[in-house]
Amino acid sequence: MDGAGFDSVIVIDYGAQYAQLIARRVRECKVYSEILPHDVSLDEIRRRRPSGLILSGGPASVNTPGAPSVNPGFFRLEIPVLGICYGQQAMAQALGGEVSRSGVREYGKTGLRAQGTSTLFKDLPLEQTVWMSHSDAVVTAPEGFRVTASSDASPAAAFEDPTRGLYGVQFHPEVAHTPKGLDLLKNFLYEICDAQPKWTKVSIIEEAVREIRDRVGDERIICGLSGGVDSAVAAALVHKAVGDQLTCVFVDHGLLRADEPEQVEDTFHRHLKINLIHVKARDRFLGKLAGVTDPETKRKAIGEEFIRVFEEVARTELAGTRFLVQGTLYPDIIESGTRDAAKIKSHHNVGGLPEDMAFDLVEPLRNLFKDEVRAIGEELGLAEEIVWRQPFPGPGLAIRIIGEVTGEKLEILRAADAIVLEEIRRAGLLRELWQSFAILPDVRTVGVMGDERSYAHPVVLRCVTSDDAMTADWARLPYDVLERISSRVVGEVPGVNRLAYDVTSKPPATIEWE
Ligand code: XMP
Repeated sequence: MDGAGFDSVIVIDYGAQYAQLIARRVRECKVYSEILPHDVSLDEIRRRRPSGLILSGGPASVNTPGAPSVNPGFFRLEIPVLGICYGQQAMAQALGGEVSRSGVREYGKTGLRAQGTSTLFKDLPLEQTVWMSHSDAVVTAPEGFRVTASSDASPAAAFEDPTRGLYGVQFHPEVAHTPKGLDLLKNFLYEICDAQPKWTKVSIIEEAVREIRDRVGDERIICGLSGGVDSAVAAALVHKAVGDQLTCVFVDHGLLRADEPEQVEDTFHRHLKINLIHVKARDRFLGKLAGVTDPETKRKAIGEEFIRVFEEVARTELAGTRFLVQGTLYPDIIESGTRDAAKIKSHHNVGGLPEDMAFDLVEPLRNLFKDEVRAIGEELGLAEEIVWRQPFPGPGLAIRIIGEVTGEKLEILRAADAIVLEEIRRAGLLRELWQSFAILPDVRTVGVMGDERSYAHPVVLRCVTSDDAMTADWARLPYDVLERISSRVVGEVPGVNRLAYDVTSKPPATIEWE
């Protein structure tokens, strides 16, 4: 779905994180929002017929040579424009105002005084706390504009020219530290842009179903299930649209967490009654992994074997299938447009298929953020265990077993991992943590159990908090949770005599050990 049936507001991107946060807030207000790069053409914007534009904040200074500038054509589209922080400054500069390094750098919670006559501030208190983070500020508003709010260091903390529909704020209404920020955004969306709050879970699903039906017609369509939330929600959505035309393929490579294959069977086959081909390929994968110790070689071997298995199914049982579902999310779409994302590991996404398998792709989640996908999943009736599942790497437990992967090591790790997840869930921490899992290093340590000396494996516990996996911090788990996990793993899993906790953030470490 492309949001075509909804009123929308476009966020022009002057610095990725800022833009994403604004788009998410607009969506929270039930108005569809997408992010476009600052050099987007006017035609590209017109084609989408947005109700308004928001120019995001960004890290640059408008006075630095080469800083991204605002296309003055944005102000002639005859739709309202709101500039935020850098966006306000760039708007001021483009329209003949003056921006300079302010005497006092404002950072953090700041008192704001509004004049009280602006629609943007309608029903908001005259004095409020806002979040500022800037060194530059507008010192002279462009001609035709009037100042509507100020702070100690920003004489033009908000300005506007309502006749042209142009508004700017120096502070960040999109962050939680501006308590009335969402109300200000709602004023912009509903009062100024006249956008209707109709982008709801139910309408998103209806729109997606309509689009999938139009696209797929009466052709057959397949979906590779990984056990993760994205492919699960995508499959449920497509099934709602085209029912039995969909077949899901679940390749069990034997490297999954405890009970995962059963859960997939249960959810998709028994509960949702979706055609499911469950390929049990554990031995094939273990065969390919025999003797392999290098992490990247493991990833490659698993990725290649996955493709072989998928190809075989596609060429036999699924011959004549035209469409393939992919659970691509909006951040993937935004990121593929960004120029310099550094790659640390070859994230061979198991499920990636060779180019010569000519399927037409259907990507029903390509405009959604992860939390929106979860909300849609819940609305479609998927179980909590699926919807709130933590990210799990495509190569599975293989990259959490350091050294060669064997059936015996897989059993140890799977049992330890199940205890970790059970205790984390019991402690109510599952949703709070980005990931929580066990690792089996390739060493053995001495221990003593009863009167017996043991020489067995340590297990490493890794629990991290993160927003997007680009950076992560080790979780400050309560001692009693650590203690329960330790005593249960060592007491219940044969072959383990020690538990260590990984207290390294990312960077310098990565989340996974391989
Ligand atoms: P790292 O270890 O790079 O992981 O900090 C960041 C996120 O990516 C996941 N991950 C993978 N996902 N194939 C995947 O599909 C992979 O090879 C892979 N390696 C890491 C990891 O679980 C974390 O969420």
